[in-house]
Amino acid sequence: MARKPIIAGNWKLNKTIKEALELVGGIKEKVADVKDVDIVVGPVFTALSEVGKLTSGSNIGLSAQNLYWEEAGAFTGEVSATLLKDAGCQYVIIGHSERRQYFNETNETVNKKIKAALAQGLTPIVCVGENLEEREGEKTFDVVRDHVTNSLKGFSADEMKKMVIAYEPVWAIGTGKTATPDQAQEVHAFIRKLLNEMHDESVAESIRLQYGGSVKPDNIKDLISQKDIDGALVGGAGLKVDSFVGIIQGCLS
Ligand code: PGA
Repeated sequence: MARKPIIAGNWKLNKTIKEALELVGGIKEKVADVKDVDIVVGPVFTALSEVGKLTSGSNIGLSAQNLYWEEAGAFTGEVSATLLKDAGCQYVIIGHSERRQYFNETNETVNKKIKAALAQGLTPIVCVGENLEEREGEKTFDVVRDHVTNSLKGFSADEMKKMVIAYEPVWAIGTGKTATPDQAQEVHAFIRKLLNEMHDESVAESIRLQYGGSVKPDNIKDLISQKDIDGALVGGAGLKVDSFVGIIQGCLS
């Protein structure tokens, strides 16, 4: 099955509203004709609404970087799926390794967040992946199995088909060390096999799997040409117009 590539920029804790608008304005101009790649930008909460006004009606989707699973109420400091929709989001990144590492996110909280996102029609970009110690201890497949099976527990086939999964080896994030295309493909194929075991082939074949970790214009072609890699979740290179656009162009055949 042909899956449409999806390139998402995870801006992390960067960019004022003004800087965010400059960045997305520059991207928008250069990708106006791109139809064969889904393009997503993920600013900080405070810039979502303004960036959303600029992306509205364009070929650029808007993503938040996190959400809380409750809809409303006494949860100081949190933001719900409804409010993300209200700000113009279509996507939300869930379970990024930085959230798992610094903010105590677990498979259980990731699972609740995915449920909340789906209930509001947001597309979850669910992150999974091993750290360096786990990779060196040959635990990669155990960790990825744990993340995938437990974070994605209890969803129907239809719900599964609405998600994007990002495989991000933590040792490759922001380090300049990319997994080789073969290393990445091996884990992507493993994730697809797990999805097949959890559901069926139609689920496994329709879900888009992004690779993330030091993706740049000069390595995207080799990654995207792998059978089971359908796009990228981009950190550092997503903060500049030229490198982000270069990655998008690298997905066009
Ligand atoms: P990086 O980050 O591209 O800077 O390695 C990727 C990510 O954390 O999503």
